[in-house]
Amino acid sequence: MNSILITGAGSGIGAAVAQRLSQREGIRVLLVGRRMEALEKVRSAMHRPAMHAALSVDVSDAQALVAALETKTAGLGRHPLVGVFANAGIGGGNQWGEDDRWEDIIRVNLTGTYNTLMASRPFLDRSKGVKQVLVTSSVLARFGVSGQSAYVTSKTGLLGLVRSLAVEWSPQGIMVNAVCPGWVDTDMARNSIQSMADAQGLSFEECKAQQEAILPSLRMTTPAEMAQWVDFVFTGLGEGEVEPRLATFTGQALDVNSGSWMG
Ligand SMILES: NC(=O)c1ccc[n+]([C@@H]2O[C@H](COP(=O)([O-])OP(=O)(O)OC[C@H]3O[C@@H](n4cnc5c(N)ncnc54)[C@H](OP(=O)(O)O)[C@@H]3O)[C@@H](O)[C@H]2O)c1
Repeated sequence: MNSILITGAGSGIGAAVAQRLSQREGIRVLLVGRRMEALEKVRSAMHRPAMHAALSVDVSDAQALVAALETKTAGLGRHPLVGVFANAGIGGGNQWGEDDRWEDIIRVNLTGTYNTLMASRPFLDRSKGVKQVLVTSSVLARFGVSGQSAYVTSKTGLLGLVRSLAVEWSPQGIMVNAVCPGWVDTDMARNSIQSMADAQGLSFEECKAQQEAILPSLRMTTPAEMAQWVDFVFTGLGEGEVEPRLATFTGQALDVNSGSWMG
């Protein structure tokens, strides 16, 4: 049984990916987030819940993360780590001044992802064959947005991290890629839309409709649709899977954004 680690697994995209991967033979999912209650709720709804495990840890705390991955609960000694979905993140704006969220957003989104990848590396080294690391960046790595300089910087920085580690790690069989979602219907997106609605004096539904109307596909992506893309990148990682692992796909960004940015 091989392990795939998912951060931010207690809700939204991470929860949908956990749910989907649990349906694959030979995959044990290690769910990581801060709120144990949320992680346990996701785990209990997964296919064969007893096979999977949840770890409550803040990804921005490197030492705590390293210690958590070494625990018996993590089980990485018995179940080789073959995939990492570094997806934890926080959203929202930031403004220069006393309540500036710059440090928080960079610490969780950028440093937290770096911590996740670096803390996972020794475990990836111990497993055989090609391994996959996938980082959740954003369509906001593709263009700027007023009032969100920290979020945009964190998600753009992740593309630099992915390219650098792809060069460093791919020769050892560890592929490193990013996914850049556009609007995905999760709590984070709903909070952003609510803030935009408040600023414009619109209702949530009016603002959501306005945002969707400018997308070429005319609607947001669902978490379950995002999970299909992640599942694709993790092709062949279960024990006994005969499909080839994606061994030449590395250093790339997969843009799943309803057509809002076309590279
Ligand atoms: N939804 C969108 O439209 C969209 C678009 C582009 C990119 N993204 C990115 O997609 C990823 C997932 O977001 P989502 O939309 O699924 O929103 P979400 O439901 O808010 O998920 C974010 C998850 O990250 C976890 N998390 C936050 N800070 C953490 C920390 N310090 N340590 C460990 N876990 C932490 C949260 O759980 P805890 O609070 O329990 O820790 C939560 O489960 C994020 O990186 C986000 O930036 C989202």
